[in-house]
Amino acid sequence: MGDNTTPSKFGQRLILVKNLKVKSCMTFQKIDGKKIAFELRTSIKEQVDARISSGLPKPGLAVVLVGENPASEVYVRNKCNACEEVGFYSLSKKLSHNTTQAQLLTLINDLNENPAINGILVQLPLPKHIDEEKIIEAIDILKDVDGFHPYNIGRLALRMPVLRSCTPKGIMTLLESTNVALAGKEAVVIGASNIVGRPVSLELLMARCTVTTCHSRTINVEEHVRRADIIIAAVGIPGFVKGDWVKPGAIVIDVGINQLETGKLAGDVDYEAASKNASWITPVPGGVGPMTIASLLENTLQAAQLQDRKHLG
Ligand code: GUN
Repeated sequence: MGDNTTPSKFGQRLILVKNLKVKSCMTFQKIDGKKIAFELRTSIKEQVDARISSGLPKPGLAVVLVGENPASEVYVRNKCNACEEVGFYSLSKKLSHNTTQAQLLTLINDLNENPAINGILVQLPLPKHIDEEKIIEAIDILKDVDGFHPYNIGRLALRMPVLRSCTPKGIMTLLESTNVALAGKEAVVIGASNIVGRPVSLELLMARCTVTTCHSRTINVEEHVRRADIIIAAVGIPGFVKGDWVKPGAIVIDVGINQLETGKLAGDVDYEAASKNASWITPVPGGVGPMTIASLLENTLQAAQLQDRKHLG
């Protein structure tokens, strides 16, 4: 912005022409998840190197994939690569679609007992014949690096988090990076899944926001979004949040990673239009996605530290 502008609330600039206020436009800032995630991974690598120098073992993560879901295969590969990059031990277990629930439970028990493994991640969704809740509940709560176990979700609900779900934790790191005070803000979450919507609502409540969680039966999502200071879009529909729904100055976090027919990735928010009103906004790709993996690495290191303490008494 040049000299012909004056700053006002929420970074809005009023463009002055011949001393007349003629036009209002919003200067938005991109929240660079790729950069923040890189900084986090660098810090984790330093902590792992220090751990190894002091004679402690590498943190170890087991990633379990059941069946042949192409998107899940990409996610699992990225998670394992990220582990290697920061110096973790990583164990990838790929099981056929026909794996029974009993076989998967036996594997989880083995991983629970394996001292080289500090974190266990079972990639979701699982095939229909397997009860996801039973599998999640079988994971040792100290190795639950996804933070999906009822114990860890319950701790979060009671404002005593231990291992926090990865995408919601990454979202909170992105919000903190803006240095905007969160307490008292109206936060509207679109989506109520166990993986994102519910735990991020609990995170925002813990940060003392006033939280509305919209879901498939919400009567008028647009009306809720229009009052939000913070919008978390986790609905899985490309361009669901229209630009004019975004209140001037709102922070917009787009969790959607939707593949269009063209092969391009699109978020749940109309980025171009929303950035005209937002003060801060995450891009897709390069926003929330890299933070999910960085948070998983943070959790695996944290799980290793919790287990060190358990074994040292
Ligand atoms: N499927 C989609 N997101 C996730 C995630 O964060 N963890 C697991 N385990 N499965 C997922």
